[in-house]
Amino acid sequence: MKKKYAAYILTFVILLLVGFFAARVPSSTVPIYLDYQATTPVDPRVLNHMLPYFTKEFGNPHSTTHVYGTRAHKAMENARAEIACGINADPQEIIFTSGATEANNLAILGVCRALKKLGKSEIISVVTEHESVLQPLRQLEKEGFTIILLPVQKNGIIKIDDLKKALSSKTALVSIMTANNEIGVIQPIRKIAKLSHESGTLFHTDAAQAFGKIKMDVKKDKVDLLSLSGHKIYGPKGIGALFIRKGIKLMPINYGGGQEMRLRPGTVPVPLCVGLGKASEISQKELLVETKRLLVLRDAFLKLLQTSFPDMIINGDLEQRLPGNLSISFRNIDSLSLQENLKNVAISLGSACTSSSTGISHVIQAIHGKEITPTVTIRVSIGRFTSKKDIETAASELISFIKTEKGKKNDVQ
Ligand SMILES: Cc1ncc(COP(=O)(O)O)c(C=O)c1O
Repeated sequence: MKKKYAAYILTFVILLLVGFFAARVPSSTVPIYLDYQATTPVDPRVLNHMLPYFTKEFGNPHSTTHVYGTRAHKAMENARAEIACGINADPQEIIFTSGATEANNLAILGVCRALKKLGKSEIISVVTEHESVLQPLRQLEKEGFTIILLPVQKNGIIKIDDLKKALSSKTALVSIMTANNEIGVIQPIRKIAKLSHESGTLFHTDAAQAFGKIKMDVKKDKVDLLSLSGHKIYGPKGIGALFIRKGIKLMPINYGGGQEMRLRPGTVPVPLCVGLGKASEISQKELLVETKRLLVLRDAFLKLLQTSFPDMIINGDLEQRLPGNLSISFRNIDSLSLQENLKNVAISLGSACTSSSTGISHVIQAIHGKEITPTVTIRVSIGRFTSKKDIETAASELISFIKTEKGKKNDVQ
């Protein structure tokens, strides 16, 4: 009997101690994720599809003298066909890369260096492009090319007339992104491709943010080269692809084995390719339904914010825009305080101030020019796993933070 009591007391003391120490460990809350344009989680359906290719199906897709290699090769080619299908291309027009950065580099450096000997020495792009386009352009400038960066209008979209004026017989390439990574604005790529071709110029588009989110069709849009990325569409990181229309000549930027049509040497990472293929298939199948769902969520978020802050600034065109994107600027809010205090919502921050030395994003600067007053800019990007409840909670957290900050400013004034 005594032993039984002693056991009870011991259990009680142990539970008390566990409870005491557990209370001292900070509880880890998971913030609501609204940064789907930075990256997306791998969809469990994609992961399941990839797993066997890390273990049982580990063959080298280029060693096709045995069944390990032929099965890996088949999986790689199936993935290529899925990606091609997603943009209405032929599978032989798809090259696997490590992501959109590499695809952009290969497209821009590869085409321009190949065309230099034909006297083509100018490249046209846009001020709001991603660094993975702007940096290779800077490199080509060092190699003697002239780079023309078109401005954008207040809504983030280029003026077609500006492109018309910039094109000449010397233009080697026009490279303009389909959808912007910060403000989600969609450029009129069909018109851009048509104009480029009329002046005998090739057209490349960085579709890292557009692929899987809006319908892409390289045949209808007459795109010559297109870059895409796996981790923006619920696929793995470290894989992407470049579409190269049949017949277009590129200089490789890496040298080694003859893989990927001698344009991208190295053993192709089959698990990642298979993941990109599956992610592509799912996003195409679910595109219409998902677009409608995202639009409802985004508009709900926008309405909640606009009701509280009618003077907030919406960056970029609201119609020609990715369904899950919002970019908003507020005046008189400290971005550092936002970053430190908005702990339960994961969004992307970009501070927009009057001076570029204070870290203004080149995209916000391009659309607002000299008119910018000190503001904080947030990018909210909604995705596949965002629920209505997430939107309501995140909006309410953000609203209460901004109201508190504005209150502080009013107290000071
Ligand atoms: C528009 C755009 N282009 C290119 C990239 C680079 O993609 P990756 O991470 O696949 O290299 C990104 C990624 O943020 C992007 O948003």
